[in-house]
Amino acid sequence: MRTLLLIRGLPGSGKTTLAKEIATLQKGAICVAADDFFMVQGKYHFDPTRLTEVHERCERTAALAMRNGSSLVIVHNTFSQRWEMQRYMTYAEQYGYRVSVIDLFNAGLSIDELVERNVHNVPPIAVERMWQRWEHDWRTKAEKQVVKFRPRNYRPEEA
Ligand SMILES: Nc1ncnc2c1ncn2[C@@H]1O[C@H](COP(=O)(O)OP(=O)(O)OP(=O)(O)O)[C@@H](O)[C@H]1O
Ligand SMILES: [Mg+2]
Repeated sequence: MRTLLLIRGLPGSGKTTLAKEIATLQKGAICVAADDFFMVQGKYHFDPTRLTEVHERCERTAALAMRNGSSLVIVHNTFSQRWEMQRYMTYAEQYGYRVSVIDLFNAGLSIDELVERNVHNVPPIAVERMWQRWEHDWRTKAEKQVVKFRPRNYRPEEA
């Protein structure tokens, strides 16, 4: 079955390295990350004012690959919370892709080690913030929310 693979992890956890290794195992695999769209003339140039645009371009690239029927589409963004993965999951449903998530989180490293490893110069305070907001239980939490916010007189046909 065609697969959308989301690789999530803190900066420097090894997402891109793993994505590229997995892609070599599957002919026609497509790898994409939001960071790809911060590349200007071959150099990484982070610009926070472009975050929305860059993420939309990443989503569109993944959606196009699924529309074209790539056997494996890999997106390797930080994805600290479920909502960041949601659009990819919606596209996967639309195009009949199975979704797999690999969660590297900190890859067993400390904040200092992650900062040292990451190639995008993400400062320690930013890594720490992402660490704090990391949604480990992204799947069960979402399911719990559906139950929690369902009104008492809930009728499916009105949803
Ligand atoms: N399993 C590993 N063992 C040792 N070093 C690794 C491993 N995976 C990746 N690295 C090294 O760690 C550094 C960061 O890896 P990589 O760029 O893949 O991380 P990333 O999660 O994509 O980071 P970013 O969020 O900044 O894109 C690279 O120098 C890479 O060679
Ligand atoms: Mg990367």
